[in-house]
Amino acid sequence: MANTILVGAQWGDEGKGKIIDVLTEEADVIVRSQGGNNAGHTVFVGRQKYVLHLVPSGILHKGKQCVIGNGVVVDPVSLVEEIEGLRKLGVRVSKNLFLSETAHIVLPYHRELDAQREVLKGRNKIGTTKRGIGPAYGDKAARVGLRVLDLVNPDRFAEKLKLRLKENNEVLKALGGKALSYKQVHESYRAAGDYLKPFVTNTVVLLHQACQQGRSLLFEGAQGTFLDIDHGTYPYVTSSNTTAGGACTGSGVPPHRIDRVVGVMKAYTTRVGEGPLPTENAEIADLLHGMGREFGATTGRPRRCGWFDSVATRHAAMVNGIDELAVTNIDGLDSLETIKIAIGYRCGGKRYDYFPSDVEILSHCEPIYAEFPGWKTPTSSIKEFKKLPPPCREYLKALADLTGARLSIASVGPARDQTIFL
Ligand code: GDP
Ligand code: IMO
Ligand code: MG
Repeated sequence: MANTILVGAQWGDEGKGKIIDVLTEEADVIVRSQGGNNAGHTVFVGRQKYVLHLVPSGILHKGKQCVIGNGVVVDPVSLVEEIEGLRKLGVRVSKNLFLSETAHIVLPYHRELDAQREVLKGRNKIGTTKRGIGPAYGDKAARVGLRVLDLVNPDRFAEKLKLRLKENNEVLKALGGKALSYKQVHESYRAAGDYLKPFVTNTVVLLHQACQQGRSLLFEGAQGTFLDIDHGTYPYVTSSNTTAGGACTGSGVPPHRIDRVVGVMKAYTTRVGEGPLPTENAEIADLLHGMGREFGATTGRPRRCGWFDSVATRHAAMVNGIDELAVTNIDGLDSLETIKIAIGYRCGGKRYDYFPSDVEILSHCEPIYAEFPGWKTPTSSIKEFKKLPPPCREYLKALADLTGARLSIASVGPARDQTIFL
């Protein structure tokens, strides 16, 4: 298989975990390059459900190498818990997992600052996952972050932690939060450091060698295009580059090594957290929540739901250079009489055929919809594209045409065998 970047083409939770899992079959190395344990990727293997946060979803396949790259922010205590949880379920995690020595680590003060800043923002809060992601990337950019190579060096870690904790405790107290105990943080992080040491390596060299040996790489994007720090609905975004370019900077694999970009999107739209969502719709939210679907994999929060937004996915195709599309959760629309797709927006008498950069404008945009007849037939056991009901095929064709990329995977259920390849 070619070297592939897989990205979310909407606001996250597009079903990346499931699609990664099916694409892993043909890949040799699966790489996370950005984000942290704010991600929640659900994969079903048979009846067993796994939710991956930091460990690449490829871990569920035997004989694959999984890399947590330099661009990821790693909460070491949480990573240890995740590895332990996987091992309890019988998943082998040993020489198949590699952790970049230059990945930045998330510390308890990042989580506390994340929570305090959300409180201060009041009704303008972002609705973060409170995993400390923003403050950890903030420290990275400010050049005061601690990295995995500091964590596994006891003397250096003690010295740096002391300094950073002193400053951050002052900030926390000023924000109305609690100061953290050096002893407690040091103890738990050093224990995690010892546990993780065998996984730590120079992943840039490892990936370079894999490329030279002709092994194929699969980049597992986290979050989605509109949560990108540069291209998303700023400030209602996460703090990393979730778009395709982030895979290169976050792994050290150069752009010319990339052969294709796969964009994953739901047959409708969802978003967790605050910020504009032009096609948000109560009817479709009630329908999906009523089916027990669309609750966050990381925080359990109900996801906001809406119609498919092709203005957004067209923008995602442009920013990521999406070659192929994987459309998931098609079965979620099985019962509908009529299905809508946003094909443009109207705001203050102006029509937009592109995604406005300004969230003020975006939040006042009214979608212009095209309507499609529903198929009112269960699709979850269909195995071939030509067996899908004709209105369903028409709908998928419209999604792909409006987005501007080739449909290559249609997913009709969470399981591996509920995947139609085109
Ligand atoms: P990710 O963050 O992009 O990996 O997505 P999540 O795992 O957070 O959320 C996607 C949800 O949709 C999970 O519960 C998946 O099991 C589920 N899912 C993925 N594809 C399909 C599908 O085609 N049909 C159904 N019914 N569920 C799906
Ligand atoms: P996966 O990989 C959906 C959202 C949060 C919030 C914003 C900022 O499972 O698709 P953060 O904690 O990152 O500072 O929160 O981003 N968010 C996600 N939404 N899926 C995710 O990951 C997300 N990771 C962060 O809800 O709106
Ligand atoms: Mg998710």
